[in-house]
Amino acid sequence: MHDPAVFRSMHLARFNAAPAIFVAPGRVNLIGEHTDYAEGFVMPAAIDFATLAGISPRSDGKIVIYSENYAEEKVFDAAAPAVASKHWSDYPLGVVAILTGEGHKIPGFSLSLWGDVPLGSGLSSSAALEVVTMLAVTSMIGVSYPGPVLARLCQRVENEFVGANCGIMDQFISANGAKDHALLLDCRDLSFKLAPIPPNVALVIANTMVKHSIAGGDYRTRRAESEAACAIINSHRGGVPFLRDATLEDLEKWGHEMEPKSLLRARHVISENLRTVACEKALEKGDMAEVGRLMAEAHRSYSQDFEGSCVEADAMVALAQDIPGLIGARLTGGGFGGCTINLVEQSHAPAFAETLGGRYAAQFGIVPQIHICHASDGAHRLE
Ligand code: GLA
Repeated sequence: MHDPAVFRSMHLARFNAAPAIFVAPGRVNLIGEHTDYAEGFVMPAAIDFATLAGISPRSDGKIVIYSENYAEEKVFDAAAPAVASKHWSDYPLGVVAILTGEGHKIPGFSLSLWGDVPLGSGLSSSAALEVVTMLAVTSMIGVSYPGPVLARLCQRVENEFVGANCGIMDQFISANGAKDHALLLDCRDLSFKLAPIPPNVALVIANTMVKHSIAGGDYRTRRAESEAACAIINSHRGGVPFLRDATLEDLEKWGHEMEPKSLLRARHVISENLRTVACEKALEKGDMAEVGRLMAEAHRSYSQDFEGSCVEADAMVALAQDIPGLIGARLTGGGFGGCTINLVEQSHAPAFAETLGGRYAAQFGIVPQIHICHASDGAHRLE
């Protein structure tokens, strides 16, 4: 279905109009977890799982959205204010709401959607859906936003319409990713640097099959705990509105005033920022041993200090350690389930995936999905 011709026929048959077709990828985060909303650093890559959107204008004032994945069509009145209803259509509808809030008049349109980003797996299927819809709708009304601005608008869909308190990482990488590269993003000013992923390195994504949702309470709790630690540091020395501005020395000085869990969460975020910047440098130098070491340390911190992992994800990381070809492994994304990212020497990748899958199935009685992915381009028009 990544083939736009198949997608075009589907849209044409349903809506009797030729669509403009867009694509936006999911993502995997190599390092930098729960640092984005602390205005810190993340280093994700866009992957070759993506969402496609076909759009064509309508003259009856309706917004008709069809999801091939859900085999479901939803009809809305373009003139009526959009309301969220905890349904997949919240994401495209939220795009309309945010654009309307920005002063754009959105006419009726037909939108067809299809994607292969595994849902609820921490690979940002929702960001891909927001970004692809944003690109489709803005292009239909003749508006062109730079990638970073488009990402910010999509984050607002999530924060203000869907009601998930996420940071900027997922929408940013889906909009701005680059083939064969990871992207080091400074979530404070959205400046970024592309870091090449060596051609002989594969991104092996292993799904624990434990569903994750950032709308869930754990994400919010962790965020609140880390922000509470930040407020204590800020009350002493000022100029620390976000953990991005804090140091490990701050924790030594004032950690005793924090709730023990807050202290641990902050230690993860502050140290993760340091690791993320260091990891980009290592990648640039091609020092893959250092990349692997930083990933291992990041997983330990995510699991033990942030307590953002789960038994299955810890096992998926542990089971990978002695498989030939492994460079580094860690849980990726919002946490509490979802996928691990394994950087693996390309020549070993198929055998690595098979061994890891077999070991995990033997331990948990669940066959995990394991994907050998490559870093891809961000959202763009296909035709
Ligand atoms: C989810 C959120 C992101 C980020 C990660 C954790 O993917 O959508 O904004 O906070 O979790 O790093």
